[in-house]
Amino acid sequence: MKKSIHSDSLKTTQDIAKELARIILTAPKKKGAFVFALKGELGAGKTSFVQGLAKGLGVKKNVLSPTFLIVKSYNIKKGRTLYHIDCYRLKNGKELLELEWKEIIGNSKNIVAIEWADHVKRIIPKDALWISFVQGNELTERKIVIG
Ligand SMILES: Nc1ncnc2c1ncn2[C@@H]1O[C@H](COP(=O)(O)OP(=O)(O)O)[C@@H](O)[C@H]1O
Ligand SMILES: [Mg+2]
Repeated sequence: MKKSIHSDSLKTTQDIAKELARIILTAPKKKGAFVFALKGELGAGKTSFVQGLAKGLGVKKNVLSPTFLIVKSYNIKKGRTLYHIDCYRLKNGKELLELEWKEIIGNSKNIVAIEWADHVKRIIPKDALWISFVQGNELTERKIVIG
């Protein structure tokens, strides 16, 4: 079931992400990583969302876009790890498969946030949570579609 949420500011978008982080921390999965598959145009708010997610997971470091590194990881409490991946420059999932993708998504302790997930659709797990970011008419208006 899709759910559409209206965000009128950067803070609102990050608060939504923080709330999702809290939900995930209290309901850990048994099989495989929790994967956020994020899509939306440049500037739509994907990285901002991941920053909120990281805060909600207790990451103290500043989360910046991993565009040039493709994969960045952050330790979270209880031996868990947040992976932030940016597939903007990727055409398919081949390069990710070479970057220990299977190990990353296979570990239920991992939380994976992947920007431009639509570029690597075929390697995104079936149970991933898809989130789309759509810019609105106002400068700070976004529609966030979950599911
Ligand atoms: N409601 C909003 N939600 C998210 N970002 C917003 C919002 N309003 C304005 N912004 C701004 O839009 C930009 C989003 O950039 P970013 O998160 O890097 O996008 P993306 O990763 O999708 O390219 C930031 O400069 C942010 O401050
Ligand atoms: Mg980004």
